[in-house]
Amino acid sequence: MQVVKTFGLVICYLVITFILSSCTLNDDSKILRLAHNQGTDHAIHISLKNFADLVKQSEEEVSVQIYPNGQLGQERDVIEMVKAGVLDFAKVSASSLEAFDSNYKIFSLPYVFQSREHYFNVMDNSQAVKEIFENSKNKGFISLGWYDAGQRSIYLKRDGGITSPKDLQGLKIRVQESPTSMSMIKAMGGSPTPMTFGEVYTSLQQNIIDGAENNESALTINNHGEVARSYVYTEHQYSPDIIIVSPKRWEKLTTKQQDLIISSIKQSSEEHKEEWNKMISNSVEEAEKMGVDFYKIDTSEFIKSVSSLHEEFIFESNQNKIYFDDFQSYLK
Ligand code: GCU
Repeated sequence: MQVVKTFGLVICYLVITFILSSCTLNDDSKILRLAHNQGTDHAIHISLKNFADLVKQSEEEVSVQIYPNGQLGQERDVIEMVKAGVLDFAKVSASSLEAFDSNYKIFSLPYVFQSREHYFNVMDNSQAVKEIFENSKNKGFISLGWYDAGQRSIYLKRDGGITSPKDLQGLKIRVQESPTSMSMIKAMGGSPTPMTFGEVYTSLQQNIIDGAENNESALTINNHGEVARSYVYTEHQYSPDIIIVSPKRWEKLTTKQQDLIISSIKQSSEEHKEEWNKMISNSVEEAEKMGVDFYKIDTSEFIKSVSSLHEEFIFESNQNKIYFDDFQSYLK
């Protein structure tokens, strides 16, 4: 069974790669292809469409075509495609980029952002973010901008929620494929289970995992609220969504086209903040109707449980310390 599944995935990957490389993605094409894994009613899709519309309205003769719903693969796959130069753009979570460039680790460090305001302030203004985004060119992709992906908290199949890390003992919690997110759940007392986003619903349903962690839209737009009963505001991460481009493709664009793309991402990312708020309040309302209970808790025990991760991060390298201090300097 596993062999058949793996074989199927390999064939699928080869077909997609063939289609992308042979007929759609030559360097002179005026169409830039962008892949992401969310549905068309998700705020990020609406904002990426806004980005594409802004590009289209210009006279720069380039356009952006969006492939939503993970049509071209899960986040790891599309990052590989961008790196290989067979896909132009991808929108992925900063946490997924950690496996490709360790500098992205900081975005998954729990409680590194202490409020939404702090998070926005860092993402919009920090020198460290600018450097991390530009330097990943050495790793085969360039990060052009970011979109809010909300605050991540833990949700569980069981009723009643949790109030402290000791309640996570023995619970298998799905995390993104990010070593820092795995260490986080481990430090909190749970058993981290990394897997792609597309596998989470079935894994919850089949009791492969006891819970997961994400923003509230996972409950409704991705239907996890059909199989989860409690959403607990541990508020442990703000891991932004990042738009990456293939350096090979980027260098083929004119300076005017590059400027247009960057300013369109900026504008749509700014407008996205409002779109995000709308989606989250609708998601909470809808998830409650689906039977999910929301728990506001005192997060101090959770914060304490992962404090060693901050220390380890800072001691790991001088560069990490510089980035960490830069992030903290935006706290008001
Ligand atoms: C968020 C994020 C996605 C990511 C998902 C996940 O929804 O925006 O890019 O894939 O989390 O938990 O995997």
